[in-house]
Amino acid sequence: MVNIQKTAVIGCGFVGSTIAYTLMQRGIFSEMVLIDMNQEKAKGEAMDLSHGLPFTHAMDIYAGDYSDIRDASLIIITAGANQKEGETRLDLVHKNTKIMKSVIQNIKEAECEGILLVVSNPVDILTYVALKESGFPQNRVIGSGTVLDTARLKYLLGQHLKVDSRSVHAFIIGEHGDSELAVWSSANVSGIDLEHFEEIRGMKEEERPWSDIYREVRDSAYEIIERKGATYYGIGIAVARIAECIVRDSRAVLPVSVLLSGEYGLYDLCLSIPAVLGQNGAEQVLEIELDDSEKMQLEESAKEINKVLAEIMG
Ligand code: 2OP
Repeated sequence: MVNIQKTAVIGCGFVGSTIAYTLMQRGIFSEMVLIDMNQEKAKGEAMDLSHGLPFTHAMDIYAGDYSDIRDASLIIITAGANQKEGETRLDLVHKNTKIMKSVIQNIKEAECEGILLVVSNPVDILTYVALKESGFPQNRVIGSGTVLDTARLKYLLGQHLKVDSRSVHAFIIGEHGDSELAVWSSANVSGIDLEHFEEIRGMKEEERPWSDIYREVRDSAYEIIERKGATYYGIGIAVARIAECIVRDSRAVLPVSVLLSGEYGLYDLCLSIPAVLGQNGAEQVLEIELDDSEKMQLEESAKEINKVLAEIMG
């Protein structure tokens, strides 16, 4: 029986521990088990987080192992190496695929019935590996995908348009990586398309830095890793947002990495496409309107992912 109030975080590195910290702050769960190959690290993180509980919410946070995850509703997988300076997310694929396969084997042996949320990179590839290795239904295996990239786009557009980023509605879709694309054709501010909103804000066409904004979104991780060695706050909050949708069954639409089964003519790969997220995971993948150029870019992104899948699923 799944306990909707219970989650497990597998991998207690920068990303996993930041996710755990954010979930604690948000009070989304009442029980959180931390798992890491380095059990002392997991214990240390659980202790450190637990000492903050008197300031936040009633929650049981502990270091455990796979025998503790059976009734968890959400299993957040961050295990694996993270990008080093100059590395792409796809460069991590061989070592992280091996790690993902062993994590999924342990999850299967634990007879876990929860939703798997893959965060490790390259997330689209590893979401596909988790789906195939687990044999779970496709709605129960999702990846954090371009939820963070979409937040980066909203933030940068909010700065450009001098408007609250939460009033900006736009998606980054495709690979969470170098081949991702911005869906400019439907981007808007509270229903007003971007070009019209720029006019309202007195901006001229030549001031439209959309391609610069796209490049800044796509290359954010490289920029941050070069400066501080890793990214974890943005992804930590993005994952907490996904977790919230699932636990509260909110049915928000987020661009998580999901298995495509014919959307945009694409089959049998995971890419980030907006999906309705609720307690059953990705309840419905939404084939949002794309213009011809966006369709072409998405096909290119799929080609990049399929090249890597062919190599590792050989
Ligand atoms: C990010 O985009 C590294 O995938 C991580 O911040």
